[in-house]
Amino acid sequence: MINDKQIIFSGIQPSGDSVTLGNYLGAIKHWTKLQDEYNCIFSVVDMHAITVRQEAAALRKNTLSLLAQYIACGIESEKNILFIQSHVSAHAELAWILNCYTQMGELNRMTQFKDKSKKHPENINAGLFTYPVLMAADILLYQTDLVPVGVDQKQHLELARDIAHRFNSIYGDVFTIPEAYIPEKGAGAKIMSLQNPTAKMSKSDPNPNACISLLDKPEDIVRKIKRAVTDSEAEVCYREGKDGVNNLLTIYSSVTGISIDDAVKEFSGSGYGDFKLRVGEAVAEHLIPIQKKYDDLMKNKDYLESIYKNGAEVASSVARRTINKVKKKVGFIVG
Ligand code: TYM
Repeated sequence: MINDKQIIFSGIQPSGDSVTLGNYLGAIKHWTKLQDEYNCIFSVVDMHAITVRQEAAALRKNTLSLLAQYIACGIESEKNILFIQSHVSAHAELAWILNCYTQMGELNRMTQFKDKSKKHPENINAGLFTYPVLMAADILLYQTDLVPVGVDQKQHLELARDIAHRFNSIYGDVFTIPEAYIPEKGAGAKIMSLQNPTAKMSKSDPNPNACISLLDKPEDIVRKIKRAVTDSEAEVCYREGKDGVNNLLTIYSSVTGISIDDAVKEFSGSGYGDFKLRVGEAVAEHLIPIQKKYDDLMKNKDYLESIYKNGAEVASSVARRTINKVKKKVGFIVG
């Protein structure tokens, strides 16, 4: 790469029409703070999305929309490499090679595979099973130092490290060993469902009130947070066992920048009704300028196209170096 800053890689699946507040607070918002200090590469990982059946037109639309959401959230196209995963064929090439250096037993232990298999019993495809290997390829192709993700991706990242160690132990130092960069508890590492605060907020949740989308209308955001499940104590504090209130305090602190301790002081004596209303309003206010920027970007498809085309070119040239080295190491004739 052009300078000696450390390398960051991360990505989000374009598997819905908008990212969730969990994706935003657990990942994208942290990415924006890293873009000056690191060489950042952010991908819209469309190849991961097809491990669950997608409608083709919707996937195309959601992929472009996700790129616009990255930029609307403050990821600057001039500072970072932004690209669509399927545009850089080295991801699929490296994933195949790494599949041959990954054990079935390792993949069998992945909790996300178990969860998704339960959710989609009619389509437990091989891609869903080997998905963490594609994720390892994404990361290792760019000699990534740090991977900023929510806590749910920790196990996948550990597998990527194990695969890299294994490959390096056979062939010498081919891959940089990546480190996870996970926000602290209370700083968005795991935003919980509004309806079941012991489960993570997820775009695939069948209950529309469980999840806030980045592009939800302000009134819908306020309404969903007003209905959030809390507890019967009526005391706003951050404490073990108060999952619903802890989650709302985390969300409030993340969008306002006020620490959780200060937020607790601010709401001391408030009832849950007032607390939820203020959290809802704070989230809506935070998202309004992002939504406005998103709407403007989606009117300018040529601009978005120029970003992803340029991003794919730069990403391909970086990835090419690693994939060629790997091919030589395993014994392929490199043309
Ligand atoms: P995905 O698309 O499920 O989620 C994208 C990012 O959002 C984080 N996240 C959350 N953080 C906090 N609270 C939540 N409720 C929440 N839900 C999601 C995720 O941890 C993630 O950081 N396999 C990845 C995508 C991927 C990837 C990569 C990430 C593919 N290749 C390489 C990093 C590096 C995934 O499915 O994320």
